[in-house]
Amino acid sequence: MAGRVSCGALRAADAGAAVELDGWVNRRRDHGGLIFVDLRDHEGITQIVFDPAHASFAQAEHLRNEDVLRVEGTVRRRPEGTENPRLPTGDVEVAIGLLEVLNRSQVPPFAVNSEEPVDESLRLEYRYLDLRRPRMQRNLRLRHQIIKAMRDFFDSRGFLEIETPMMIKSTPEGARDYLVPSRLYPGHFYALPQSPQLLKQILMIAGFGKYMQIARCMRDEDQRADRLVEFVQLDVELSFCTQDDVLEVMESCMRHVWHAVLGIELKPFPRLTHQEALAKYGLDKPDLRFGLELADVGATFAQSDFAVFRSAIDSGGAIVALRYPNGAASSRRDFDALTETAKTYGGKGMVWIALGADGVKSPAAKFLTESQIESVRAALDAQTGDALLLFAGAAEVAYAVAGKMRNEVGDRCGLRDPKAFAFAWVTGFPYLEIDEETGQPIPAHHPFTAPAPGDWGLIDTAPRSMRAQHYDMVLNGYELGSGSIRIHKAQEQRKIFEMLGLTPEQVEERFGFFVRALEYGAPPHGGMALGIDRIVMIACNEENLRDVTAFPKNSVARDVMMDAPSPVPEQLVRDLHLRLAPESHSRG
Ligand code: AMO
Repeated sequence: MAGRVSCGALRAADAGAAVELDGWVNRRRDHGGLIFVDLRDHEGITQIVFDPAHASFAQAEHLRNEDVLRVEGTVRRRPEGTENPRLPTGDVEVAIGLLEVLNRSQVPPFAVNSEEPVDESLRLEYRYLDLRRPRMQRNLRLRHQIIKAMRDFFDSRGFLEIETPMMIKSTPEGARDYLVPSRLYPGHFYALPQSPQLLKQILMIAGFGKYMQIARCMRDEDQRADRLVEFVQLDVELSFCTQDDVLEVMESCMRHVWHAVLGIELKPFPRLTHQEALAKYGLDKPDLRFGLELADVGATFAQSDFAVFRSAIDSGGAIVALRYPNGAASSRRDFDALTETAKTYGGKGMVWIALGADGVKSPAAKFLTESQIESVRAALDAQTGDALLLFAGAAEVAYAVAGKMRNEVGDRCGLRDPKAFAFAWVTGFPYLEIDEETGQPIPAHHPFTAPAPGDWGLIDTAPRSMRAQHYDMVLNGYELGSGSIRIHKAQEQRKIFEMLGLTPEQVEERFGFFVRALEYGAPPHGGMALGIDRIVMIACNEENLRDVTAFPKNSVARDVMMDAPSPVPEQLVRDLHLRLAPESHSRG
């Protein structure tokens, strides 16, 4: 290899070659009269050696980390014993011929050449330096490969990638819209898409039978480790399909991606109904890397006078039990800490029973009979050395808390191996769920989802019992994506809007264009969207979506590098026919 090469390219066989490299000073060391510079680019690191006899030695003495260089030199083997086995280029070095300093760098606010943890706000403010670090280079490279594998897969299956606009009319996906005020139409706003949902359905009506898009989505919602205000979906829609067709194509895509990018052959994804997922794991996005299935032990305590259990049973609630493998050795403080965690998940508390070799211990011991303990032990298939954790309360709460505590116990027991990937499907969701904020029933997915075949009859009498043709893909305890078979008949779509309490005028105002489109021969169709940020995060073993996104907003939705959102000149605000409230200000 000779001529211009990357910093990751050179090997022992290249000794003697004249080469040219460009890159950043990763580190400079002055050692034994020589100066060594590790030159870094996106492909790797190559050691450059300056000897004092060389004209550029004096210049090299002033090099600082992150200075930008172009060097010419001759490749040579490193002297025996000085090779660096941690670097692919570690057998060689380049003896300097010519040094050109292309640019200098200020002293960076954190070390670019190490993986030392750095405060996130500093990383985001100086994102260009953070992105130079190996971890972010690796993550964004994997992100590219995953997206490419997705596109290749859908291309091979005859799907078209079709771009949909960024300035649209609001499509509800359960979050607040970001709005763009219109200059030409005073008082009117575009919405940024929460997803391309209605547009992809219209593409089906337009006769494109197989659509996909790497789609940008914006939702003005509170950020969490698994939510961004701006994120990317693998968005897919098919015409004339069944639920199984959608599941097959999406599962095949993920198998292709895992094979092509990570070299991993995935087993067929298990399918659980929503009810099964809740009963066994307490959550609709179960982590199936481990077992620890929950057990409903309400019947065991039907006659109990223990107040905590009594009140749950009398009010029609549940008592849910979870095994904590080898938990009996935990201290009282550990159990107290677990109880506090259960409370943060909304539980009233937790009853623990330690099955120690030297006997059973529990703060509730005096309320528990031996046969009750034995029955819980048997239900969980627990052994001596394990602990039993019990959660009592309203059934939904008790299961949800037990489900979250199952993940907690999984963490404590090292059962959540970051290198294991447990995909699954959850199907058969109820059509409606209760909105946490308003207490009103809202669609568990979105209002374009078709009810389960045969459940239309419940719409007037028992809408809360309707199930939906809605499915989720889950991975390691995360919801990766959701989709549904859609309503394709205008009168059925109107009926759903009516059930959700929209007046015909509201339907016309918000969705008139869409319902009209359904009236012109809309084919049966369905689809799904997967969250690409979440997929990449899990594939990279990261825990925060911001670590797999080049320029994310921070946890309070600010871009601290660009300083956005920010005030704008007053004239711009006036041009948009807006007047700001007194407490907000624009730039004069
Ligand atoms: P849904 O709203 O469930 O469905 O979104 C699908 C997937 O997108 C990802 N996702 C997010 N990722 C990061 N930050 C967010 N704020 C965020 N919100 C959602 C998740 C989620 O599972 N139009 C429908 C899909 C369909 O029916 O085809 C939709 O958007 O991984």
